[in-house]
Amino acid sequence: NGEMLQWNGDVHEVYSPVCVRTPEGLKRKLIGTYPVCTPKEAMDALDAAVVAYNNGRGEWPTMAVSDRIACVENFTRKMIEQKDLVVKLIMWEIGKSYADSIKEFDRTVEYIYATIDALKDIDRDSSRFEMQQGIIAQVRRSPLGVVLCMGPFNYPLNETFTTLIPAIIMGNTLLFKPPKHGTLLHYPLLEAFRSCFPKGVVNTIYGRGNAIIPDLMKSGKINVLTLIGSSKVANELKKLHPKINRLRAILGLDAKNAAIITSHADIKLAVQETVLGSLSFNGQRCTALKIIFVHKTIAEEFLSQLKEEVSKLKFGMPWEKGVSLTPLPEPNKPAYLKECIEDAIQNGASVVNENGGATVESFFYPAIVYPVNNKMKLYREEQFGPIIPVIPYESMEEPIEYLIESTHGQQVSIFSNDSHEVASSIDILVNQVSRVNINAQCQRGPDAFPFTGRKDSAEGTLSVVDALRSFSIRSLVATKLNDNNKH
Ligand code: G3H
Repeated sequence: NGEMLQWNGDVHEVYSPVCVRTPEGLKRKLIGTYPVCTPKEAMDALDAAVVAYNNGRGEWPTMAVSDRIACVENFTRKMIEQKDLVVKLIMWEIGKSYADSIKEFDRTVEYIYATIDALKDIDRDSSRFEMQQGIIAQVRRSPLGVVLCMGPFNYPLNETFTTLIPAIIMGNTLLFKPPKHGTLLHYPLLEAFRSCFPKGVVNTIYGRGNAIIPDLMKSGKINVLTLIGSSKVANELKKLHPKINRLRAILGLDAKNAAIITSHADIKLAVQETVLGSLSFNGQRCTALKIIFVHKTIAEEFLSQLKEEVSKLKFGMPWEKGVSLTPLPEPNKPAYLKECIEDAIQNGASVVNENGGATVESFFYPAIVYPVNNKMKLYREEQFGPIIPVIPYESMEEPIEYLIESTHGQQVSIFSNDSHEVASSIDILVNQVSRVNINAQCQRGPDAFPFTGRKDSAEGTLSVVDALRSFSIRSLVATKLNDNNKH
């Protein structure tokens, strides 16, 4: 509610995935602490958002769009002043490379400005009147209420702000819980939130999600749940809402994006894009390539070039120049990845690259696993880490069958230089996922493109314009013309 609380309660210690040498060996470094809200404090924050919204009568939801835009512009200027510190914290807190951390920050700022421009367009449109059958109508975009916003650890800034900004700029009020790995990096922005928005518009809560979020959902005071994270968590939270039919959910969830590398592919290009798509930020992207189908006639050549390219990738600390592979923030991740590899080996596959799957503290050396089949965890589970599962196939029916059976439906990539081959698959592929990439890796960007997914991969659509629509409702102000008001 626009105030920094003096904290006397429980705190959470944040250990960086970046390790330091100690007498006992390499150890994760303690880089800070943050307060752990109790359910009562979280509920107070929710109540502050409810009061600020005041059933649509509050200062913020009734404010002129141009004034809300001015608040967001002011916030963005202050955010830019904090760039160096935020980027440094992204590197230390989640182990993202310097180049990718800068990219994440810049992309977020570009997104905010693009959102402001798009809203100005929408606002101009709503000042136009439409006349039908003697009724003159103004179409407006109105807010939905109180939004609970939770972002992911892998894009703690970008993915959070691509929901948080459209939510508030449309006139909603908000409760924001940063991800467990990715909380400290928001600290430099809290003062900007406090000073740029009226009290209660943006309320930040820290703490253990499973201790505070369920009660917030059960209260029935949340109108919109926006979460970039796991389908399981999203489903559990939605069910807690007492009036689920009144809850709007805007969700970016699990994905297991496939690449299909046909016998007509440019192998070199396919290898480069597979490496980028599977291993950028160590494969910790919902948009990452997580399974590769390669036509059996080119599988040997593809694997040989893939091994070569993976062996050239540089491991290192996030701030080192040219580094591609960095420490993993989730302490249990290496054990899970090893379990997936072990399961694949027991079911007939091998790790085909040197050192694949080796670990040193929070580093995990990428593993190319071949030949993967449908008995393995790696066939279905979203590994969300540096493993490249490769499946040889004979007929296009096999990857298509995989996509149809999958519970995910975010993206697919197809690599082929035969335009007839691409054209004949495209109509089927585009009915399985929400984005088909031709001769390119899967990715969300540019952020102005619609970002969604089928099946368990998403609910609602993000982008610049789509997000503004998602966090609002079209309302009409309609006047029936009669002799008294026809002028
Ligand atoms: O994890 C999801 C991110 O939004 C990925 O974005 O694919 O454009 O890097 P990107």
